[in-house]
Amino acid sequence: MLIELTKISKRYGSGETEVEALKDIDLRVNKKEFVAVMGKSGCGKTTLINILGTIIKPDTGRYMFDGNDITKYSEKKLATLKRSSISIVFQSFNLVDELDIKNNIILPFIFDKKEYDKDYLESIIKDLEIKDILNKYPDEVSGGEKQRVAIARALLVKPQLILADEPTGNLDSENSEKVVRLLKKCVDDYGSTVIMVTHDIDMTELADRILEMSDGKMIKGE
Ligand SMILES: Nc1ncnc2c1ncn2[C@@H]1O[C@H](COP(=O)(O)OP(=O)(O)OP(=O)(O)O)[C@@H](O)[C@H]1O
Ligand SMILES: [Mg+2]
Repeated sequence: MLIELTKISKRYGSGETEVEALKDIDLRVNKKEFVAVMGKSGCGKTTLINILGTIIKPDTGRYMFDGNDITKYSEKKLATLKRSSISIVFQSFNLVDELDIKNNIILPFIFDKKEYDKDYLESIIKDLEIKDILNKYPDEVSGGEKQRVAIARALLVKPQLILADEPTGNLDSENSEKVVRLLKKCVDDYGSTVIMVTHDIDMTELADRILEMSDGKMIKGE
């Protein structure tokens, strides 16, 4: 088991503007599982991804990651875990405007002064068809290209956990399929666990399990 959430809840705001984004979420995800998360806009999918990615802390509940209770971790310990084991593809891409595409992709390795797998990078670049934009800057490429760059960066790390928030939201069906196949390949070739949010049922075909959320609750698949 890689992930075990117990009674996770999260509120935003207070008083009249308070939103209960997650309500007592219980979830278990095995190692090497490919899980899709579906549900209407506003049901809490991104909040769940942000908690799984340790971007935000839940108000209540316990988060066990690979056997460790990380709700008890210090900020420093969380940061180390995140860098070594978790990749997130955000809905908003999170590219660095001052760096060209190539450097955006290898950014985690620049930070950590580590070598990356050059052959793997070549194959990702080929699969995602981003060879021609490697020397451009984020504001010179399209939304779909940015999305593929964000995915390339997440995959190159070969992380234990890949979190992808609508990774195909800006892509045509051909590119969407490629992205999902690449995510599946991470599971098969590198033993990653993938949790992918999507609105598109066609994108869930390769998933082992589909979770459905509604109004802050897990209503199917947990
Ligand atoms: N930073 C925030 N401050 C206040 N409310 C928030 C914040 N982030 C999200 N919310 C609210 O929490 C609820 C869940 O939001 P969340 O972003 O998790 O939904 P989502 O399922 O990802 O939606 P979408 O499919 O549109 O991306 C929504 O009602 C949203 O308005
Ligand atoms: Mg969202």
